[in-house]
Amino acid sequence: MQELTEAFKTLGDPTRLRILRLVGEARLNVSEVVSLVGVAQSSVSHHLTRLKALELIREERQGGFTYYSLVVDEKAPLWPLIRLAKNAPDEHGDLARLTDLLRRREDVHTLNEKLLEPGQSWRLWAAALASLLPPLDLVDFGCGTGVLTVELARWARHVTAIDRSATALHKARVEAERLGLHNITFLEANLEALPLKSGAYDLVVLSQSLHHVESCERVLTEGARLLKPGGRMVVLELLPHDEQWVRSSLGHRHLGFEPEALRDAMRAAGLEAPTLVSAPRDVASPFKAFLLTGTRAVSQSLPAPAALRKSPLGTSAS
Ligand SMILES: C[S@@+](CC[C@H](N)C(=O)[O-])C[C@H]1O[C@@H](n2cnc3c(N)ncnc32)[C@H](O)[C@@H]1O
Repeated sequence: MQELTEAFKTLGDPTRLRILRLVGEARLNVSEVVSLVGVAQSSVSHHLTRLKALELIREERQGGFTYYSLVVDEKAPLWPLIRLAKNAPDEHGDLARLTDLLRRREDVHTLNEKLLEPGQSWRLWAAALASLLPPLDLVDFGCGTGVLTVELARWARHVTAIDRSATALHKARVEAERLGLHNITFLEANLEALPLKSGAYDLVVLSQSLHHVESCERVLTEGARLLKPGGRMVVLELLPHDEQWVRSSLGHRHLGFEPEALRDAMRAAGLEAPTLVSAPRDVASPFKAFLLTGTRAVSQSLPAPAALRKSPLGTSAS
């Protein structure tokens, strides 16, 4: 009876049932489940742990990923419950998204086979190329938990890492200390109005932070203001996508950007010659990234405050 009570408790959650049905259809990793059900990764991991504890699903490691699949079959005592979950109406369109994901995953396998060549250690290559740079003073806009910040701090002279989340900054600080990096100043502030000196930095980095902010124009203008003449801004952003769930689950205010519109916004913020680098990424992901870089002109007065200019990106819908 105790076992049955636990089973009902575990299965008495609609998201968990959706996940169970999905891993019953295909072996999936956590990121894939996140993209299919549209809830935060921590929550998906929790649901998977509960399903594993009930021995309904199994976990296997392959190629750096952990995959989950259903283990119970038609002879198992809990099968009638699983069958109900499998046959329930697909109100969220999970199965259609799964079909799409599996189709795109086949493309990735084909691509990976073509690319199975030495020299694909991109992280190492990035570090090697970065080591050729002069020591720079840089600002990391929206550093989050500092994954990128610590990589930047390995070669920069100094990194000012800014975020409005005290929790994220705490994690970033702990990670920097663990790695023995002492050239980072963490700052809790709003990217739209920063208490930092104008014209004092060589590089401003915005990695996936712009889609979180209310006014991209104000943030880009702040970035441009901080740069020395000739200083550079690098923006890594997402192409437009339709994953509405990221608004409520991850706090995104913009569902990606048209690179041209962002390039115009960089120009309007006072950056010259913005250059676009498109990077075809994991084709199974709905999130595709691109890079824009721009330079603060050597002789240039600061742009007008963003609020006075017309926005090429529109306002964010929250
Ligand atoms: C997706 S994370 C990016 C983390 C990191 N840059 C990376 O690439 O791994 C976006 C971060 O921007 C921060 N953020 C969003 N809007 C902000 C604002 N107006 N001022 C300061 N930080 C902000 C969020 O708190 C979050 O930590």
